[in-house]
Amino acid sequence: MNTQIILRNRPNQTVTQDNFQCIDADIEPLKNGQVLVLNQWLSLDPYVRGRMSERKSYAPAIALGGVVMGEGIGVVIDSQSDQFKVGDKVIGMLGWQTHAVMNSSAIKLIPHTPFSETWLLGAAGMPGITAWIGMMDICKPQAGETILITSAAGSVGSVAGQLAKLQGANVIGVTSSEEKCAYVQDVLNFDHCLPYKHSSWPSNLNKTAPNGIDGVFENVGGTLFDDLIPQMNPFSRMAICGLIAEGLEEQFHSINLRTLLAKRMLIQGFIVSDHVSRWREIQKQLIDLIVEGKIQVHEKITEGLQNAPQTFIDLFEGRCLGKQIIKLSSVLDIPRKHP
Ligand SMILES: NC(=O)c1ccc[n+]([C@@H]2O[C@H](COP(=O)([O-])OP(=O)(O)OC[C@H]3O[C@@H](n4cnc5c(N)ncnc54)[C@H](OP(=O)(O)O)[C@@H]3O)[C@@H](O)[C@H]2O)c1
Repeated sequence: MNTQIILRNRPNQTVTQDNFQCIDADIEPLKNGQVLVLNQWLSLDPYVRGRMSERKSYAPAIALGGVVMGEGIGVVIDSQSDQFKVGDKVIGMLGWQTHAVMNSSAIKLIPHTPFSETWLLGAAGMPGITAWIGMMDICKPQAGETILITSAAGSVGSVAGQLAKLQGANVIGVTSSEEKCAYVQDVLNFDHCLPYKHSSWPSNLNKTAPNGIDGVFENVGGTLFDDLIPQMNPFSRMAICGLIAEGLEEQFHSINLRTLLAKRMLIQGFIVSDHVSRWREIQKQLIDLIVEGKIQVHEKITEGLQNAPQTFIDLFEGRCLGKQIIKLSSVLDIPRKHP
C-alpha cells in the first residue's frame, strides 16, 4: 500500500493543513522501463506553494487530487528497467508519498558522498546549486565588496552567503530573529546579520553598510526588497531567487528607472531548472567545499510523512533553520522483493 499526501484544495493566501489529505492508494504494476522506489527522504521546498496554486507561473500547477510534488531519495525495490536494479539508491521527484512508480528517465543514481545522503537534497543538491547560480553567475562577488543575502539562515541563503564569503566579500545576512542571526554569524561565519523585524531595521542597514551594497541575493521580496534598492551601489547586481514574503499574491514594486539607469544596476531573476546541464559540474564543486569544511550545513529531519504538511507550513512562518527533510523509512525497513 502506498501512503500519499494529495492536494485536497488550493490555498487562498496561506497554506493550511486543510489543503492536504493523506490517503492510502494501490501501487500500480510496473510497465517496461519503470521502477518501484521506496521513498526514504523527502525534501520540503517553498516553491511547492506556488505549484499548489493555479496562478500562472514558469511550471504547471499540481492537479487537484494529485500527489504533492517534492524531490526525494529512495531505494529501488522492484525494477522493470535495465538501468536500475533492486537496492539502487536514487534521487528524483518522488513526491509526498511512501512509494513511487518512476520512469527510469526521471530518476538518477545518487553520487557517493562522505556525508549524509540527505545533504544531496540541500546544500549539495538543488538548493545549493540555486545558491551557486544566483551568487556566482549573477551577484559575482568580488573581494572587499558588500553582499547581502535575505533569508540568510535558510537552505539556499546559507549556502549563498558562504559562497560570497569564500570570494572575500563582506557578507551581510538578513533574517527574522536575533537567534537566527547568531547562527548566521557564529556558524555560517557571515560578517554581519540583521533581524528585519527589529524596530531599528532598515536604519541598522545604513550603519552596517555605510558604503552601500554591491550585490543582493534576494530570497524574500515584499517590503524588504523596497528597503534594499536605495542602498545599492553603482554597478551593483541583484539576483532574484525567490519571493517567499509575497505568498500567492501579485505584489508590485515601484522602482525608479532613473535610479537603475544612473546606477547601472542589474536585477535578474533566475530559475535553477534552466541550468540542468551544469548541475553535475556545480554539484561536484559544492561537494568538495562541504568535504573541505568550507561550507557548513544545517538540516532538520522530521520523522513521518504525516508531519510533512505542518513542517511545510512552518517554512512560511519563520520556524525553520536550514534545510527541512522528512524521514519516511529507514534502510532497515526496506522489504526486499528480490533477495
Ligand atoms: N529561483 C530558483 O530556481 C529557486 C530554487 C530554490 C528555491 N528558490 C527560492 O529561494 C528562497 C529560499 O528557498 P529555501 O528553500 O532556502 O527556503 P528558506 O529560505 O529556508 O525558506 C524558509 C524561510 O523563509 C523566510 N520567510 C518565510 N516567510 C517570510 C516572510 N513573509 N518574510 C520574510 N521571510 C520569510 C523565513 O526565514 P526568516 O525567519 O529569516 O524570515 C523562513 O524560515 C525561496 O523564496 C524559494 O522559493 C528559488
